[in-house]
Amino acid sequence: MQLTPEQIDAYRRDGFLVFPDLVAPAEVAVLRDEVERLWDVEAEGTVREGARRAPKSMFRLHEADGANASAPFRALSRSPRVLGVAQQLLGADDLYLHHSKVNVKAAIEGSVWPWHQDFGAWNLDGIERPDMATYMVMLDDATELSGCLYMLPGSHRWGRTEAYLDTSTAYRLWSVRHDELIRRMRESPPPVAVTGRAGTCAIFHCNLMHASGHNLSMGDRWQAYFCFNTCANRPVDVANPRPDYVRSRNWAPMQPMPDAAVLAAAAPVLAD
Ligand code: SIN
Ligand code: MN
Repeated sequence: MQLTPEQIDAYRRDGFLVFPDLVAPAEVAVLRDEVERLWDVEAEGTVREGARRAPKSMFRLHEADGANASAPFRALSRSPRVLGVAQQLLGADDLYLHHSKVNVKAAIEGSVWPWHQDFGAWNLDGIERPDMATYMVMLDDATELSGCLYMLPGSHRWGRTEAYLDTSTAYRLWSVRHDELIRRMRESPPPVAVTGRAGTCAIFHCNLMHASGHNLSMGDRWQAYFCFNTCANRPVDVANPRPDYVRSRNWAPMQPMPDAAVLAAAAPVLAD
């Protein structure tokens, strides 16, 4: 998938792009089956919340091994629509995933993701340059009521803002000081709600300020995320590194797979 010069300009200006209905309904169905298959797996990379203990996040779907390994998610992460787009925006062929995850945000119980820049945490992981981008895939229709993502256009051009550890939800997140955020938001265009049908995708710069609210709707809001880094920008050693599922040490360049590999990777339906 070749981005147009207008899309590349918009990414540089706003820090994100949205691709409506890019993943076909049949592919979304395969990916959703995978989320259901992994739902009750007790993996190190699964964080749960709420009375129903639904996953808030399930990490490390893209590798060939591990408890949350998923062949369809692995294929999607390497497809021209995903890897190919990240290669164009990061200006490099050799990319790897710092991590991948599905955020479930369960009906009624799924909680907020406070305003943050992904690079706030990733810089602390030992990654020196903000040559990174996050690719998001909606696996449900995302609405404002169900807690869609909000982007603050142009905020990636602020550079990295000092991060603090927000411990208010089940997933401890490096967020941004509220006084600093309010000061910046007063001077910024209003946040953009990234809503859309299942299959809609977006990619955003690692310094783009983003957040999402509590899910007040009767349905879950499932979204997959692939966080790309250039192989040349792999982390330096840090004291007490975060676990592999969130700070990958697989720095081998990802090998592309065709778009058709997502459906081909679906678990076979067994005959009676
Ligand atoms: C994230 O920023 O990592 C996730 C936000 C969301 O799923 O709403
Ligand atoms: Mn984020």
